Amino acid sequence: YKKITTKSLIDMKAQGEKISMLTAYDYTMAKIVDSAGIDVILVGDSASNVMAGHETTLPITLDQMIYHASSVVRGADRALVVVDLPFGSYQSDPKEALRSAIRIMKESGGHAVKLEGGKEIKDSIKKILNAGIPVMGHLGLTPQSIYKFGTYTVRAKEEQEALKLIEDAKLLEKLGCFSLVLEKIPAKLAQQIAESISIPVIGIGAGSGVDGQVLVIHDMLGMNNEFSPRFLRRYMNLYEGMTSAISQYVDDVKSKDFPNEKEQY
Ligand code: KIV
Ligand code: NA
Repeated sequence: YKKITTKSLIDMKAQGEKISMLTAYDYTMAKIVDSAGIDVILVGDSASNVMAGHETTLPITLDQMIYHASSVVRGADRALVVVDLPFGSYQSDPKEALRSAIRIMKESGGHAVKLEGGKEIKDSIKKILNAGIPVMGHLGLTPQSIYKFGTYTVRAKEEQEALKLIEDAKLLEKLGCFSLVLEKIPAKLAQQIAESISIPVIGIGAGSGVDGQVLVIHDMLGMNNEFSPRFLRRYMNLYEGMTSAISQYVDDVKSKDFPNEKEQY
């Protein structure tokens, strides 16, 4: 695949090729992630946590998401760029949802939007899709509803919630979503859903039986020492690497080692 499209992802699922997805929120990171060969870059509203330091994803605004997304789009050459619609930009009515999605597409150049929820937001999803904007769904642990859940633990462990999840996943497929994210649900349930629909299911904390995986880049690079849920695999310890590089720099400045003769004009 030279350039990833929503169609490429559906083809990948049909051919049994797993889909790789990571978040990015700025130009430099997007450029690295894209060159490394990622299929999908998600401009997640997790920017609210990892970029802005908020406790939840609720405070980030549509303008802020557009700023992050436009930076990412400038750094991405091959990857499909999906942008989260932030809390408050789509829940009140379908017209507002469409307006928000249009702003993201026009002002950032992103390729698709992602919304949290199933049946409750089906009219909004329809309206956005009717305007020609690809939609990725997001079910399971949906962080914009954290105050309803009260906790970040695994969702859909009980039958009633599991059944609603299956129904919602089928509905998203029927509406015409090109893909969906399942966050923090039992692996068996996630696999069952992935096998029962033809659009690709991207998991985070949803096991290996789905069609692709997504992680928050700061988490997988080990930049965040405090966050270590079971589903997270750390590929680096950038927290330690950066801390030692920066303290070395501080020492070099203090000791007058930096700059040396070759490092000046
Ligand atoms: O905002 C985000 O990073 C996400 C992923 C965790 C799926 O929605
Ligand atoms: Na998100």
